[in-house]
Amino acid sequence: MEGIPIRNARRGDIPSLLLLWGAMMREFEEADARFALHPGAREYMATTFAAWIQDPTRIVVVAEERGRLVVGFAAGVVLAGNGWQVPVRLGRISDTYVAAPRRRQGLARRLAGRVMDLLYEKGVDTVRLAAAVRNEGALAFWRSMGWSDLEVVLERPVEPDAD
Ligand SMILES: CC(C)(COP(=O)(O)OP(=O)(O)OC[C@H]1O[C@@H](n2cnc3c(N)ncnc32)[C@H](O)[C@@H]1OP(=O)(O)O)[C@@H](O)C(=O)NCCC(=O)NCCS
Repeated sequence: MEGIPIRNARRGDIPSLLLLWGAMMREFEEADARFALHPGAREYMATTFAAWIQDPTRIVVVAEERGRLVVGFAAGVVLAGNGWQVPVRLGRISDTYVAAPRRRQGLARRLAGRVMDLLYEKGVDTVRLAAAVRNEGALAFWRSMGWSDLEVVLERPVEPDAD
């Protein structure tokens, strides 16, 4: 998969990013209905991608096949630390997605690697990300690249008079 170039996203990529992001969200929702989107999500993400592409604390990279078809993307951000723990300058990978027909060819490894390199250039020394506990493929992917479990996010609905 060395042949598919990875580059920084541009404004013109926003329609492709929205398509890939929408497909990613459908996969997440199929695996766990708690990740269902609200009706305004697509418009929200159109604005969000436009802002990310211009924001120097953000990274958005795309894999573009034959100079015209975006088949994967990844995004990251530089965050301040929480103020009381190391690391002081923390990075986060917010999204990584590869279109299903292009999977298992090393593309996500290269996309995530590029985001890590760019975060490092921005002064980050530690990067965190969240993966759904039911997303076994993603967990296997990140673990194969040396990522280790840090915390588990718990959720429950609020019910009146629940103890
Ligand atoms: C997770 C995802 C990004 C991986 O993309 P990919 O391009 O197929 O990953 P790579 O080809 O770079 O995989 C590198 C290694 O990770 C591991 N890996 C990747 N996907 C895996 C899977 N579904 N099951 C088990 N191991 C997997 C393998 O060790 C693989 O090496 P190998 O193919 O030589 O065995 C892709 O499946 C995807 O887009 N999933 C839906 C969105 C998603 O879950 N994103 C991550 C959110 S945290």
